[in-house]
Amino acid sequence: MNLQTDIDLQPYNTLAVPARGAYYAEVTEREQLPELLRFARDEALPLLVLGGGSNIVLERDFPGLVLHIRLTGKTLLTEDRHHYWLKVAAGENWHELVQFTLEHGYWGLENLSLIPGSVGAAPIQNIGAYGVELKDVFERLEAVDVASGELVEFNADECAFGYRDSLFKRGGRDRYIIVSVTLRLLRQPHLKVTYPSLREALQSIPVEALTPKDVGRAVCTVRQSKLPDPMTIPNVGSFFKNPLVGLDQFMELQMRHPGLVSYPIDARHVKLAAGWLIERAGWKGVQRGSVAVHSEQALVLTNPGRASGAEVLALAEEIRHSIAAEYGVDLEAEPRVYP
Ligand code: EPU
Repeated sequence: MNLQTDIDLQPYNTLAVPARGAYYAEVTEREQLPELLRFARDEALPLLVLGGGSNIVLERDFPGLVLHIRLTGKTLLTEDRHHYWLKVAAGENWHELVQFTLEHGYWGLENLSLIPGSVGAAPIQNIGAYGVELKDVFERLEAVDVASGELVEFNADECAFGYRDSLFKRGGRDRYIIVSVTLRLLRQPHLKVTYPSLREALQSIPVEALTPKDVGRAVCTVRQSKLPDPMTIPNVGSFFKNPLVGLDQFMELQMRHPGLVSYPIDARHVKLAAGWLIERAGWKGVQRGSVAVHSEQALVLTNPGRASGAEVLALAEEIRHSIAAEYGVDLEAEPRVYP
């Protein structure tokens, strides 16, 4: 089974919090899973399914079995006049996949360049950036059912994708281990460059001359200008989701706070830019011990001093209280917290 015990998890979480895992196994073949799952069940161990470790906060040592998904492989399943269907193993690195597709002329992932993490983690929170979400290119996924060890398939409807949300964060949480994702990519580029900061980064190129590679490069530039590289400054990207508020509350907030950044969702809801709220509440660049609010993007908490998960969560809690008091808005954490 190739099990290790009492392992240091600091190198496996991009927030770099010090924590230990009671048991750890690298999964390089799907066939290893049934036996590992049986062991966890027999020993009554909780599971932590680890991809790139870029969206988790470990509050303390993990008393169960850490399954590090290292499955690799990309297969072009089929194609038609408009699409390519590419099946990718869960352990592949997301950004390397994006680069691979851009080199091969399989278009559609360019706006999702440079998102940290693994392919198998992408559907869990329906990763999204610059106007594109995973669900826009998603065909289906394969997962191993934790209870039975059997392989099961989910199409897009069954995944119930929403903003930073899916079945795998709700009813399906901890019930499935995603082992592959099949994407539906385009032969003809269909560029989405309406996001303001992206449009700004591309303004030197005439719209009719733009290519998906230009968009991919611009996304990398914009991200690098605002988001800290987890390899140098530990972080998990946005620490909070952008909150949804009702129209009445939005109008009242807008009166009190001119300049409030918002995105219309439907006739009754508006999404607010949490980074804007946090910055205006005075948090940008604030440091608490070894933990900080990033100075270029207030939605990102950083952990330069490699403090504990509890310290990071304490700062997050302070921010949540402050935003609730100042705006009456409830912020929800974006990464998964392992208490
Ligand atoms: N803003 C501020 N101050 C800040 C941060 C943002 O005023 O400190 C304002 C910006 O000026 C802008 C607006 O808020 O007008 C939105 O900012 P930005 O474009 O940086 O995007 P975001 O809403 O803060 C979301 C995603 C990011 C994604 C970007 C681009 C969430 C939780 N975050 O951030 O995703 O890269 O949009 O699409 O939805 C992540 O999930 O880890 C992540 C980085």
